[in-house]
Amino acid sequence: MKQKGFTLWFTGLSGAGKTTLAERVYTELKHKRGLNVEKLDGDVVRTNLSKGLGFSKEDRDTNIRRIGFVCHILTRNDVIAIASAISPYRSVRDENRALIGDGKFVEVFVDVPVDVAIQRDVKGLYAKALAGEIKNFTGISDPYEAPLHPEVHVHSDSETIKESTTKILDTLTSLGLLEPEA
Ligand code: ADX
Repeated sequence: MKQKGFTLWFTGLSGAGKTTLAERVYTELKHKRGLNVEKLDGDVVRTNLSKGLGFSKEDRDTNIRRIGFVCHILTRNDVIAIASAISPYRSVRDENRALIGDGKFVEVFVDVPVDVAIQRDVKGLYAKALAGEIKNFTGISDPYEAPLHPEVHVHSDSETIKESTTKILDTLTSLGLLEPEA
């Protein structure tokens, strides 16, 4: 079977586990299954493609549109694109869905209660946001609009990384985007 292009779009709060899950799926598809896969991570994209952008609604929307555009051109060339960015605004995520094509845009909501993200605080940014040292911090002083109908909904506070990864791969298989494993 010829590889089908699609975009796997991870959305959720900072510290929810988007990057970790995106990397697990990337490794599975690229190294175990030998598929053509690219990943676009918010933190990385902000050091190159979106360098200089901040965290106003306008700049976040620009960041998400840029990532969506790259996913679009990869997807139409039958590459699998894996994006992970907070992408807090529903309307721009939906714009990307329309651009890439419903059926080729698979939204993964990495759900975590904000108090769990605050407890984890891997990067130490929640403490700064709570102290008012970082303005417009998603979940603290800036909105996060959860997806209404994500293709996959994982709960990073109650599932293991393996369970969430399996859930994502199973969904891709049932959508006909991946071949069932032999
Ligand atoms: S998005 O809103 O444009 O999708 P993106 O995923 O690229 O955000 O970047 C989020 C990362 O930037 C966070 O994981 C965090 O490390 C860092 N960051 C710095 N300032 C903020 C802020 N005000 N709100 C959210 N994340 C921030």
